[in-house]
Amino acid sequence: MQELTSGGSLCIGLRFAQDDRCTVSPLSVNPSSADLPISPLGEHHGVQFLLARDELTHPELPGNKWRKLKYNLREADRLGLNTLLTFGGAYSNHLAAVAAAGRLTGRRTIGFVRGDEMAGRPLNPTLARARADGMELHFLDRETYRRKHEPAVLAALLHDTGPAYVLPEGGSNTLALPGCAELARELLARTDFDVLAVACGTGGTLAGLLTGLNGQRQALGISALKGADFLRADIDQLTQQATGRTYANWELRTDYHGGGYARLTPELRQFIVDFQQRHAILLDPIYTGKLLFGLLDLAAKGHFRRGSTVVAIHTGGLQAWAGFGGEPG
Ligand SMILES: Cc1ncc(COP(=O)(O)O)c(C=O)c1O
Repeated sequence: MQELTSGGSLCIGLRFAQDDRCTVSPLSVNPSSADLPISPLGEHHGVQFLLARDELTHPELPGNKWRKLKYNLREADRLGLNTLLTFGGAYSNHLAAVAAAGRLTGRRTIGFVRGDEMAGRPLNPTLARARADGMELHFLDRETYRRKHEPAVLAALLHDTGPAYVLPEGGSNTLALPGCAELARELLARTDFDVLAVACGTGGTLAGLLTGLNGQRQALGISALKGADFLRADIDQLTQQATGRTYANWELRTDYHGGGYARLTPELRQFIVDFQQRHAILLDPIYTGKLLFGLLDLAAKGHFRRGSTVVAIHTGGLQAWAGFGGEPG
């Protein structure tokens, strides 16, 4: 891969890992992970809520994006692969993050986008940003996209692009877990909480948090997708692959999808506006808005023990507002 040296202008804002490869680091923004801000959200129905502000760890690779990419980038380095190839929908935070990571670390990036009907149309803000970051975008028909991880289909794609390190949709593979586990361990060390809560898309972030909690405390995932019951098995499979075990200290709520992925109901938009007015914190329209909406609703319904503390994780995703006509408020 393209090795960047300390004298190279490309390394501005980047940090050198122990093996002297140039890696982008959230620490260039937050000097120490111990500085991860944790905002108190007050008491709701007898439950204390805190918000771990992981969206602030890096301006372009916020929240779970950097956490999931960190060990994958190291593996790509180890394999000598300087091209990252991945998949996503038209509004994918993951595609945007991989494109930014490529620009920041001097890697070629290729994004396969779901839906060839978009090929001739102007790019939406997420895809325009990804292309501006140097990502080569290819639009796949939905049938091929659905079969993208079949060996023959993937081989055909790689035949056209050349060798690449392949990241699955959402970036959730086994190597996505240790970075998320680090966040769980940081939070265990810094706060005395009962429940750790996160929004779920593919479930990789929750799986990584579970491995970091290692059976301690409770974890709660809130799915942003409709009909996401299959995620429970996916999450078990990921933790099994990563650590050889599954965990029992977690639950997944599938009833706060608000109509489906990327559906922003007027009620949810209003919730996000009110939340921002009250706490001066902007939530994203796809994941963290649903997370906080769900958590406060569960508190109102007595789901959490009175006197307990819930830490929610702000996983970022704010770039998605561009696709919803801009930030609310
Ligand atoms: C902002 C944000 N929060 C949460 C998630 C859910 O993460 P996961 O797909 O690992 O469940 C995503 C998707 O990657 C995301 O972009």
